[in-house]
Amino acid sequence: MNAPGFESSILGSKEHWDWVYARELASFREIGDEGEVWFGEDSVDKMVRWAAEHVPSSDGPMILEIGSGNGALLFSLVEQDYSPERLCGIDYSSDAVELAKNIAQQRGAQDVAFHTCDFLIQDPPPILQEQESSGCIDSWDLLLDKGTYDAIALGDKDELGRLPVFQYPSRAGRLIKPGGFLLITSCNFTEEELRNNLTTPESGLMYHSSIKYPSFTFGGQSGAKYSSVAFQKANK
Ligand SMILES: C[S@@+](CC[C@H](N)C(=O)[O-])C[C@H]1O[C@@H](n2cnc3c(N)ncnc32)[C@H](O)[C@@H]1O
Repeated sequence: MNAPGFESSILGSKEHWDWVYARELASFREIGDEGEVWFGEDSVDKMVRWAAEHVPSSDGPMILEIGSGNGALLFSLVEQDYSPERLCGIDYSSDAVELAKNIAQQRGAQDVAFHTCDFLIQDPPPILQEQESSGCIDSWDLLLDKGTYDAIALGDKDELGRLPVFQYPSRAGRLIKPGGFLLITSCNFTEEELRNNLTTPESGLMYHSSIKYPSFTFGGQSGAKYSSVAFQKANK
């Protein structure tokens, strides 16, 4: 995988995110603060606009956010008429899940499902009867990721010296319906790196499109602060 110079960091550890969300949950309970919107509102708006164009709410899509944090992205989809009972957020930090559930309650979006789940080792539980009865794992029309791939890429190597992020493409690919999408926003990887890393034979994903962000120039190099890239799984 193309991540030169990426070493493990505290930001890639569950302890770190448990600490972050224990604080955010306490703050929500104390003063009603919903917590940090990673990469700001602009990235949320852009991801929701991409979804509206390619996976419209009128099709009743099943959408899963990987590492949903406080749930802000999913709540924005609800505001754009996506059916809350077809949306699910998973996060390995149980306090993040608790925070998202509390916010959902307050916003009247309690039909959005939130589950504690480690994306790299567990499958998200079915949220609808139809998913349960079909028994299909690849039942999601759209997977969303905002900052989670970045966090996973900073995780510790295993005993064989492999970074946990190596598992990401196949874990994502197995959950997506044939013809479905992954939309990922990253601040640590360029569009080219995301394309190289995610379009593997194991993921079954192909590049679909990308979201444009304003670019900046620094030291003669130009680039954008974030990259949002969409991938599509081949139809059977
Ligand atoms: C940078 S935060 C982004 C949170 C949220 N997506 C947002 O945009 O506000 C990364 C999130 O990924 C979660 N996370 C990291 N590794 C995970 C894993 N293996 N399984 C599930 N969640 C994970 C963290 O707990 C954290 O909520």
